[in-house]
Amino acid sequence: MEKDGDLKKFASELQDQIMKNIRKQYSETVIDHWQNPRNFRKIDNPDGHAKVKGPCGDTMEMFIKMKDEKISECGFQTDGCATTIVCGSLATELAKNKSFTQALELINADVILKKLGGLPEPDVHCAQLAAETIRSALADCLSQKKSPWKKYYREN
Ligand code: FES
Repeated sequence: MEKDGDLKKFASELQDQIMKNIRKQYSETVIDHWQNPRNFRKIDNPDGHAKVKGPCGDTMEMFIKMKDEKISECGFQTDGCATTIVCGSLATELAKNKSFTQALELINADVILKKLGGLPEPDVHCAQLAAETIRSALADCLSQKKSPWKKYYREN
């Protein structure tokens, strides 16, 4: 019984120490998106879709649904690191309820980094991957609008 208590105390102290170290490098916003990622899901029959591979080899996918000329839904998936999830989560939140043009003007890696309160240098490319993926999905929206028949010839 005593050993169980010691083990729990040790695990709790270890977790506190890990979180303390994480907080030295990452903002509360980053930690929030890391612990509660938003829009981490595939959207069926999207109006825009893109899958982009980053320089590290990780990939991100974005799915966009438009309604009344605004982004009504935006989801993402990734096989990348925790920071990639954080960046995808924030980017999809930024996109929601924006018009195509507003989203294109607003969302880039600098804005994602600023909204997250910055990232350590080795993680900056994760924000670039999220920005590039969402911009490619927006470009796909435009392409589908011009040529709706293309929808029937793609994977998603
Ligand atoms: Fe590759 Fe984050 S480490 S995208």
